[in-house]
Amino acid sequence: MLIRRATDLPSSELTPEGVYVNRRTFLAAAGAAAGAVGLGAIAGGLSPRALHAAVLGRQDPQAVGKPYGLQSDDKPTPWSDVTSYNNFYEFGTGKDEPIEMAKNFKPKPWTVKVDGLVGKPGDYQLEDFLKPSAIEDRIYRHRCVEAWSMVIPWRGIPLADVIKRAAPTAKAKYVEFTTLYDPKRMPGQQSGVLDWPYVEGLRLDEAMNPLTMLATGVYGRDLPNQNGAPLRLVVPWKYGFKGIKSIVRIRFVEQQPRNTWNIANPSEYGFYSNVNPEVDHPRWSQATERRLGLTGLDKLRRRKTLMFNGYVDQVGSMYAGMDLRKNY
Ligand code: MTE
Repeated sequence: MLIRRATDLPSSELTPEGVYVNRRTFLAAAGAAAGAVGLGAIAGGLSPRALHAAVLGRQDPQAVGKPYGLQSDDKPTPWSDVTSYNNFYEFGTGKDEPIEMAKNFKPKPWTVKVDGLVGKPGDYQLEDFLKPSAIEDRIYRHRCVEAWSMVIPWRGIPLADVIKRAAPTAKAKYVEFTTLYDPKRMPGQQSGVLDWPYVEGLRLDEAMNPLTMLATGVYGRDLPNQNGAPLRLVVPWKYGFKGIKSIVRIRFVEQQPRNTWNIANPSEYGFYSNVNPEVDHPRWSQATERRLGLTGLDKLRRRKTLMFNGYVDQVGSMYAGMDLRKNY
C-alpha cells in the first residue's frame, strides 16, 4: 500500500486480469496436470480455476449467509480468489505470498487479552471468548483502499456481543486491536516494512455498530491462515486495512489509538478510513473499483464505489456533522 517495491505492486498491474489463482499453486497445478490429466486438458482450454479444482480437488465451497447491503450484481467472490489474493504483511508484501507463507502457521491454541477500561478484563481462550450461539454467517462487500473489491461470506460474532460482556467503563471511548507479534511464526515481522505489531482502532460507537464483526470464518469454514486466522475484524463500510487479522488483544482506551497504516504514512491513511468515493487517495481515485474474481467482459468493468461502501443507512448517522475530507 505504501512502499512501491516490485513485490508490492498490485497484482493487477503485473498479472493479466482474472488470473488471481496463486501463481505458484497454478504453476504447480499446471505441472501436475500435465501428468495427471494430460496436456490435452490444458491445451483444451481449462480455466485456471477449473484446472486448480481438477488437480487439487478443490471446488469452491458454496457461499452461506445473509446478504447485507448487496446489489443484484454483487455475487460472492469465489473462495479461490478470497483465499489467494490477500494483504497480510506478516506473511509477505505480495498478494500471493500469504497463502504460501502462512500455510504452516498454527492458530491454535489462541488467547485473546481483553483489558484497559473494562469491568471484566481477562485472558480468554478463543473457545471461551466466542459465544457459539452468537455466531452468524453474513455476506458483506469488502473494499480495499487499493480500489479493488470483493463480496465475502464471513462467519463470526457481532463485536458488540464481546464488548457488552467486557463491560467497558464510562471513560472508554475507543477500542484498540493488536495482531500477534511473533516473528518466528510470522516471518514478515522480521522485516521493517511496517511498525510491528499491526494495530488498529475504532471509536466505541463504530465498534458497537451491529455491522461490525469479529470473524472466525469465511464460506462457512474456519478462517484460512492467510485471511487472519483465528480471529479478525470486519468493518464493511471501511477500507480493508481496518480489518486487522490474527487478533490477540482488545483494549479499551480513552484517547484515539494510532493505527498501523496511519503510523506508516499519515498523509495517506487516516484513522476513520471510511469508504468514500468523493475523497481520493492522494495517489489514485476512489470513485470506482475493480471487482475481483469475475470472468469475461465483467472483469473489465469498473463499478462505482458507494458511499460507506453501500452501508450509509446503517452507519451514516455516526458521522453526521463531521468533515469527512479532514477525517479521512
Ligand atoms: N492485518 C494484519 N495483521 N496485517 C496486514 O498486513 N492487511 C490489511 C487487513 N488486515 C493486514 C491486516 C489490509 S491492507 C487488507 S486490504 C485486509 O486485511 C485484507 O484482507 P483479506 O486478505 O482477507 O482480503
